[in-house]
Amino acid sequence: MNIFINQAADFVGQEITIRGWMFNKRSSGKIHFLELRDGTGEIQGIVFVNAVSPEVFEKAGKLTIESSAAFTGTISKHPKLENTFELQVKDIEIYCIAPDDYPIGKKEHGPDFLLENRHLWLRSKKQWANMRIRDEIIWAIREYMRKNEFTLVDAPILTKTACEGTTDLFHVDYFESDAYLSQSGQLYTEAAEYALGKTYCFGPTFRAEKSKTRRHLTEFWMIEPEVPFMKFDELMDFEEDFLWYVLQSVLKNRRKELEVTERDISFLENIKRPFPRITYHEAIKILQESGKSDIKDGDDFGADDETYIAEHFKAPVFIHRFPTSLTSFFQEPDPNNPNVTLNVDLIAPEGYGELIGGGSQRSYNLELLEKRIAEEKMERKDYAWYLDTMKYGGMPHCGFGMGLERCVAWLTGSQHVRETIPFPRTINRICP
Ligand code: 4AD
Ligand code: MG
Repeated sequence: MNIFINQAADFVGQEITIRGWMFNKRSSGKIHFLELRDGTGEIQGIVFVNAVSPEVFEKAGKLTIESSAAFTGTISKHPKLENTFELQVKDIEIYCIAPDDYPIGKKEHGPDFLLENRHLWLRSKKQWANMRIRDEIIWAIREYMRKNEFTLVDAPILTKTACEGTTDLFHVDYFESDAYLSQSGQLYTEAAEYALGKTYCFGPTFRAEKSKTRRHLTEFWMIEPEVPFMKFDELMDFEEDFLWYVLQSVLKNRRKELEVTERDISFLENIKRPFPRITYHEAIKILQESGKSDIKDGDDFGADDETYIAEHFKAPVFIHRFPTSLTSFFQEPDPNNPNVTLNVDLIAPEGYGELIGGGSQRSYNLELLEKRIAEEKMERKDYAWYLDTMKYGGMPHCGFGMGLERCVAWLTGSQHVRETIPFPRTINRICP
């Protein structure tokens, strides 16, 4: 019977088969210790000369790193370690003997070498843990959305419109005309909420970002919910509740993986609700008084500013009501101060930067939207459909966007977002 390694506890004393790869081996004349993995976990296979036929013992000796095989034997409890199991191997069916030159070894490799070998690097333990945590975050997001009655709406990838300004669009020749890879599915999710109520999209988005930082990819995934009739005073509670659900799911279901990443788990466990909430102007004041930033009123925050603010609070921090000049065209002005908008970013602690952005009450004032589209030098005709949605049944509504990789980077404690997506695309890398 075939089982997966993470089922071993249920099969102690039974003869089973595990199909997987050998990632390490220690041998003496009488015994081979085979370190096996199958994607669900790791187990040590023990091949003892007296317990197997000479052919099987020889097969075990031939196995090289990354060779694949089916290992049949009995599951036993590790003599000393709790919750650890071993496979007393009786038979081996080899699928592939890998050449003895697997490029990724135990020694340190530089980032360029690892990225060049991303197709193999993915097999390393930390990368495995990152991908398992990424998967957990994706499922937690979908589960949260479903529990809260959101309908998934898949936004198109090929678009005519910019959502977040025109500077970092990827251009595509679209037959006789121009198109762009989507920067954000937001405008489409907004259109769909008139039909479906609470909606979200969750797909790849693209930014021709010239920024070469540890927080930027040119292709990343974004979760973007929209809530009809929600007012700004409810938005931060919603974002907090959403992120809390994701955080608790990872803590509950991916403990082992968090340990593999060597993340400071207690920091995550000690996060408290509610998250601090400060205005843009309060944030500017904190930065100016710190003496660590030369930021001026009206400037956007740099990466160091975001890090300082989050360190100051040692928690995820909401910064709300940015000057209108820093915000996107669809954001509603604050009725109490027309120079700022009803928008909010959530800054992750520990230096991971803006985790949730674009959060705002969306305007449905057609005159204002037309004016801001013109100011941004965007073509009115490309946005006519978007304006149409407000014409027929416009209403206050709120939404936000969370970059999946920023969330994975924060929760896994990864130094760079390129380790949080299977095949990262950055300014100078599109292969593999
Ligand atoms: O702040 P942004 O640009 O907001 C929007 O796109 C809104 N339209 C979303 C919405 O309200 N529906 O991007 C949202 C988030 C950021 O906070 C960040 O987490 C992530 O997307 N992000 C990136 N992640 C990786 N690489 C990049 N180049 C990113 N740009 C943004
Ligand atoms: Mg932003």
